Amino acid sequence: MSHADEHAGTRRDFLYYATAGAGAVTAGAAIWPLVNQMNPSADVLALSSIRVDVSGVTEGTQLTVKWLGKPVFIRSRTAKEIEEGRAVALSELVDPIARNENIAGEADASDENRTLDAEGKWLVMMGVCTHLGCVPLGDGAGEYDGWFCPCHGSHYDTAGRIRKGPAPRNLPVPPAEFADETTIVLG
Ligand code: FES
Repeated sequence: MSHADEHAGTRRDFLYYATAGAGAVTAGAAIWPLVNQMNPSADVLALSSIRVDVSGVTEGTQLTVKWLGKPVFIRSRTAKEIEEGRAVALSELVDPIARNENIAGEADASDENRTLDAEGKWLVMMGVCTHLGCVPLGDGAGEYDGWFCPCHGSHYDTAGRIRKGPAPRNLPVPPAEFADETTIVLG
């Protein structure tokens, strides 16, 4: 091998590794660790309640806050979103379980069992894709007008229920309640 060929080979290797490295960094930044997110222990929860002022969250908008190191989506749903969520038959759902920590047992994933209030206006859920932990895009994204995870193409509906793609479960609803009309307590 001539000196020139050697040089070209080294250069190609370098470019290959540099490209692979950049790809790995991008993927890493988008992935949130899933370990223990579903079942934080009671003592951890007690220490980590946060109060969120939702007075600025107008209908059709959403706020993302960080709780226990993870993003939580707090959305004020529109009438159309509520209607769409409630029109879905349970038989159409990939994951028929509510995944709502505020409801005991294995309640079904009806729209009513996913929201914080009886009218179905407020939806609070972890913003962590149940496939591999990316943060889904919101504001009516995806084929079901809810959230879309671009990492591998998971579509969630207006109640955060998985409808299409590789994610196996609905986006989990964390412990949450209204402390007053404009304050939601997480944890
Ligand atoms: S992490 Fe969301 S689809 Fe894979």
